[in-house]
Amino acid sequence: MSVNEELQATIADMVDGRRGVLAADESSGTIAKRFQSVGVESTEEHRRFYRSLLLSAEGLGQYVSGVILFEETLGQKDDSGTPLPEVAANAGIVPGIKVDKGKGPLPGAPGDMITYGLDGLAERLRGYKEQGARFAKWREVYPISPANPTPLGVTANAEMLARYAAVCQSCGVVPIVEPEVLMDGDHSIERSAEVNEQVWETVFHALHHHGVVLELMLLKPSMVTPGSECAKAPPQQVAEYTMRALRRAVPAAVPSINFLSGGQGPEEATANLNALNQMWQAPWQLSFSYGRALQEPALHAWSGDTGQRHQAQEALLKRARLNHLAMQGDYSEGLESAAAG
Ligand code: 13P
Repeated sequence: MSVNEELQATIADMVDGRRGVLAADESSGTIAKRFQSVGVESTEEHRRFYRSLLLSAEGLGQYVSGVILFEETLGQKDDSGTPLPEVAANAGIVPGIKVDKGKGPLPGAPGDMITYGLDGLAERLRGYKEQGARFAKWREVYPISPANPTPLGVTANAEMLARYAAVCQSCGVVPIVEPEVLMDGDHSIERSAEVNEQVWETVFHALHHHGVVLELMLLKPSMVTPGSECAKAPPQQVAEYTMRALRRAVPAAVPSINFLSGGQGPEEATANLNALNQMWQAPWQLSFSYGRALQEPALHAWSGDTGQRHQAQEALLKRARLNHLAMQGDYSEGLESAAAG
């Protein structure tokens, strides 16, 4: 199979109009924070147990076509000794891998950040592929303040995403390009729209420049919402602002847009995705790549108690199924009280 055929096959397995992506790629620091919120210590065994619980939820593959894993998880096994990427693949879920190495300040752009990890990336990708990964994720982060993101922040972060995506495609790994504009702050929805549009426009300019094939990548953006210190906007309004900015900045060649949840609550993220899919026909599939919004209820149900495994899986399946319905615009709040499955 040529590299392009390999990329095309992965896109075909991941983009089918009815499923999204589970982000379970929390770094060591982030998973420790999530576990701490439910009183669980972040040991390797707890992480293995929890993540194999998620991946083996019966029927998850009906609603989820891909899972983003952390490097450690790629090498872990379930209780019966099956490698976790294989557990996912057996369930019809394509395993992927977060490949960035976290972020730090961007010199020359006070308040902005930049992500690390390009050195040796091609070699790392070859190893991840041997462990079963077929797609990758890289996240750049953009804070909003009166001065941020700076013009340098916008161009430097776009350049990183494009270089990462080009390396991935040359290795036959589908890149998920994630420019996350943070919700933190008291900015208006208009300001969020303006920043997101500028960020996406610059990212696609860089992707073109680096020869990234848009048909063979996925975009993982933020939704356009007011800052987290402001009152929530209704789903209809989030959908209108998000769609307008996407239509201006994201080429129709991109097969799927898989939103991050970025601090939206689980029900909020589902309602917003539903509103987006109820709007006029979009040229791309509008789907999810949620971390917290898919996992929060499952994490709470588990809370470190092995006896709660089934309840935790049911909680995950419920969110996955409701987001699958939201992809068809068929979600309603009334379904929240209905059973999972
Ligand atoms: P959230 O949906 O929790 O924002 O996580 C998605 C993700 O992968 C962030 O990088």
